[in-house]
Amino acid sequence: MTVATGFDVSAEFAAEMDARDRLAKFRERFHVPKAPDGSDCVYFVGHSLGLQPKTVRTYIEQELKDWELLGVEGHFRGRNPWVSYHRFLTEQTARLVGAKPVEVVVMNSLTVNLHLMMVSFYRPTKQRHKILVECGAFPSDQYAVKSQIQFHGLDPATSLIEIRPRGGEATIRDEDLLDLIEREGDSIALIMFTGVNYATGQAFDLAGIAKAGHAKGCVVGFDLAHAAGNLGLKLHESDADFAVWCSYKYLNGGPGTIGGAFVHERHANSPELPRFAGWWGHEEKTRFLMGPEFHPIVGADGWQLSNPSILSMAALRASMEIFDEAGMEELRRKSVSLTGYLEFLLDECGSPKFSIITPREPERRGAQLSLRIAINGRAVQQRLAEEGVLCDWREPDIIRVAPVPLYCTYKDAHKFVERFVAALG
Ligand SMILES: Cc1ncc(COP(=O)(O)O)c(C=O)c1O
Repeated sequence: MTVATGFDVSAEFAAEMDARDRLAKFRERFHVPKAPDGSDCVYFVGHSLGLQPKTVRTYIEQELKDWELLGVEGHFRGRNPWVSYHRFLTEQTARLVGAKPVEVVVMNSLTVNLHLMMVSFYRPTKQRHKILVECGAFPSDQYAVKSQIQFHGLDPATSLIEIRPRGGEATIRDEDLLDLIEREGDSIALIMFTGVNYATGQAFDLAGIAKAGHAKGCVVGFDLAHAAGNLGLKLHESDADFAVWCSYKYLNGGPGTIGGAFVHERHANSPELPRFAGWWGHEEKTRFLMGPEFHPIVGADGWQLSNPSILSMAALRASMEIFDEAGMEELRRKSVSLTGYLEFLLDECGSPKFSIITPREPERRGAQLSLRIAINGRAVQQRLAEEGVLCDWREPDIIRVAPVPLYCTYKDAHKFVERFVAALG
């Protein structure tokens, strides 16, 4: 199924779509970088670093002011007391990823959280010691899972299973993944899968993977770097054991900003689960008694280690307010339409010089389309960048484009395709 029906290739059509777009007003809330000719860039790289909400400065300045006026007292007497500042993000984060507040926490960054989760949820035994990942997972995930396997004295050569697409295909078939879980599940300790693959843009059925994994006794966790703020997630219902994500991509929290984690409520109060502990995970009412015994907060908060960066969380709050106002359901509705429109325009140009490798079905992708370029792809991406048309390049032959629904327009998609075809030559 595609959503291409009803689109047309004219610039007027793009303008009409923008005029009818109920979310169009949100673009004004962001700083859009300028192209060399002074116009707004086509910013199709929100899957890499989201744009800056204009209110970020106000949120950060509030905390700078309290630091200036109150010093250390800001922890308890600030307008937004820093001692529990992360809680300002809990409800919004829970709504965003479809979880209960007790199941989510904003902390650290993605790879750190992934390691913390694997410390608790990767418990290999002699019979059940493998981790299943997708072949071509983001390198940091590959390094993380391999190093965890080695940390347990095991060898990735025998304890890592990587599922790959069939020969000649770019994406993984759902049935192949489920068959593999069925076949190998008894030896798999952890299924550590991606929500949306960073290179191909393929989205996976989280609930389906969790169900198949649990039926075989595996623990199931997800890396949602490219899914949080992109797809309408239902993490609690999906029944995943844990998930982690970063907040600098679709969530617009700023470069290197604080990440997030989900721990299913069934693990909220599980003293038997091992974890790497730190004082910020200790129950709040006794934290400052400075006792030697660790008593974790019930829920995902109990996995915190350190007191977190307030300035980072302040920036993220600015963006999460916008997400809350726009609503993930509406954003996803526009995203399906806008990405479908971009796909339609790319198909219409009928060029043999590239192919779309992202799945065609809207439910199997988010905002990103990955274009495999036959020759000179890097030069094409660089020429576009010089013209203020921003997409990115992934070796060996992929240009990724993400018309993010919060701030991208149908006119952006139209301009992108015009410039892209010219750059292909
Ligand atoms: C899928 C995926 N996993 C992990 C990471 C690493 O994130 P971090 O540097 O925040 O740990 C990224 C970063 O882009 C990513 O895209």
